[in-house]
Amino acid sequence: MPQVVLPDQSNYKGAKPVGAERPSPQLATGKEDEPQWLKDFQRDGYVVNKDVVSREKALNYYAPAGEDWLEGFKLGYKRDDPSTWDVKNLPRHIFGGLYGQYSFSHAQFVWDAKTEPNIVELFEKLWGTKELTVSFDGGSLAVPLPLDQVEGHAAPWPHSDQSAYRPQRHCVQGLLNILPNGPEDGGLMVLKGSALLFERYFQEHKHLESPDKWLIRDGYFWDEAELKWFYDRGCEWVKPAMDPGDFVLWDSRQVHYGAFPKKQNKRFAIYICYKPMAFMTEEQKERKIEAFNRGYCTTHDPCDFLVKSNQEAEWNVNFPYAKPVINEQGQKAIGLIPY
Ligand SMILES: [Fe+2]
Repeated sequence: MPQVVLPDQSNYKGAKPVGAERPSPQLATGKEDEPQWLKDFQRDGYVVNKDVVSREKALNYYAPAGEDWLEGFKLGYKRDDPSTWDVKNLPRHIFGGLYGQYSFSHAQFVWDAKTEPNIVELFEKLWGTKELTVSFDGGSLAVPLPLDQVEGHAAPWPHSDQSAYRPQRHCVQGLLNILPNGPEDGGLMVLKGSALLFERYFQEHKHLESPDKWLIRDGYFWDEAELKWFYDRGCEWVKPAMDPGDFVLWDSRQVHYGAFPKKQNKRFAIYICYKPMAFMTEEQKERKIEAFNRGYCTTHDPCDFLVKSNQEAEWNVNFPYAKPVINEQGQKAIGLIPY
């Protein structure tokens, strides 16, 4: 068997988005018993599902596990001592607390979240199948930091996680919220309704196409002048209030960003994304298992993923903690055992 190749793909230069020649999965809509949350999701481009994990488990298991993960690097960060909340005391991250190295995606608590039965069930209902595959995307353990330690002084960074060259709904992502998340706290900001206008925007702005701005890889960074087009069509910024244990799903085309905490509250969230296994090629299955074995973090799309940057950087440590113990459902979603 040929060796599986897993290069750093942060400078992906393909001619088309990965898998652009294959169809996109369709939502399991139109059924008589279609849940209200699925209707809300289609209308708004996102939906919050309450109490998907119990508040108690979020606060008493997931939150301390995130703190253990940060403190375990022994760089100086102490969960209860704000004088230690400084970038020099934390593992390397971006946007004030977004982790995409150090096998974050494969920490035990992250895998426990990915395999929470209620989370899996949401994606089963979304796609209408139990045969799903899961992403190895990252998460936020955002501690209030001096603003000059955060990209752009913690300014908004509105983006979509699909390419202009993949305008149809191709991926639905989600996050498990772990700490109380009110208006002044850090957290997900979404431009309500923008996912439904994503395709039309690029159709109507072909004259602005440029290789620097219109990325081939799944991602698009918006500026305010562009977003005005969405505001003029009724889209509004929303910061969904979330309690510990709530799970938010959003269309990867939706304009969004992770707001940095403005006050002294931390923001912890685990990103989780499932898609039907039927949309993965055999080569992707091999790459996925290899990425798992190496402890790599990947982009949101569980099928058409890219390996995140710096997985083999000299400063990175893959599996800084014990390898995760994963239940049968999770092992199937990786492809380690068949459905
Ligand atoms: Fe994103």
